[in-house]
Amino acid sequence: MQANAGRMRGSDLLCAALRTCQAAHFIMHPMLSTAVKAARRAGSIINRGARDLDRLTITAKGPKDFVSEVDRAAEAAIVEILLATYPDHAILAEEGTAKDANADAEYLWIIDPLDGTTNFLHGFPQYCVSIALQHKGQVTQGVVYDPVHNDLFTATRGRGAFLNDHRMRVSRRQHLKDCLIGTGFPFRDGSDLEAYVAMMRAMMAASAGIRRPGAAALDLAYVAAGYYDGFWEVGLNAWDVAAGSLLITEAGGLIGDLEGENQYLYGGEVITANPRIFAQMIKLLGPFRAALGSPTALAKK
Ligand code: IPD
Ligand code: CA
Ligand code: CA
Repeated sequence: MQANAGRMRGSDLLCAALRTCQAAHFIMHPMLSTAVKAARRAGSIINRGARDLDRLTITAKGPKDFVSEVDRAAEAAIVEILLATYPDHAILAEEGTAKDANADAEYLWIIDPLDGTTNFLHGFPQYCVSIALQHKGQVTQGVVYDPVHNDLFTATRGRGAFLNDHRMRVSRRQHLKDCLIGTGFPFRDGSDLEAYVAMMRAMMAASAGIRRPGAAALDLAYVAAGYYDGFWEVGLNAWDVAAGSLLITEAGGLIGDLEGENQYLYGGEVITANPRIFAQMIKLLGPFRAALGSPTALAKK
């Protein structure tokens, strides 16, 4: 009898937990749901493009910086969907749609229509769509969508972060020596290569391993999901960082610049990790900051 009552209480608790989880997921904030619709539409354009890479028209925007018709078509689709619902919102998008227009606007969508273009052009299956909404200077909605694996990473400020139907949490590792750390290389501007190599040498010695998959927004989502324990890169733009930064903070992680301060969105440099590892990464990598050129100058315009 008592065991039965215990079972009932256990199952009630389980149901309540599931309901909370499902409610948080299914009652998506309307602005997040519009962003998800836009990200999925862009994802299908990208998947279609990936079927016939040889036929794509590719142009170089700068050294080792390419754009294809897929990047542009994905951006156009995203902007069309967002502005259809929110015509007064401002847009900051990598491929130039209304770039910098109304940057002080109350609502600003920050978009990378295809993050990891180099991977995409080579058929290397690691790229994503990144869409964030900044409201009065704070990122309040974020979506990173991986169309290859159909993985949808979402967050609304104050409501947690999700990977598809599951709540995400950053990893719990406590010691850098046990950690898997993601990064990005300065592949466009070689001027900081020596400083970067020194940072990587230090991190290789201090951690369990380093990865460089090649799509910064997805790297940030991986920190939120706990796949990486931490990540750092210098030379990023707001559209690489905005959505992922909210995923991380909503999953319990920390994000900052190389000194741990909050200039990470427009400042070009990012360190992020679970709270224990964040402090250890800042201590290890912060001293290299002086050896780097201006991170903002590294970020492509
Ligand atoms: C790039 C990727 C890459 C990072 C570069 C970004 P893109 O974005 O995120 O991982 O190292 O700094 O510019 O050009 O493929 O959208
Ligand atoms: Ca990018
Ligand atoms: Ca891009």
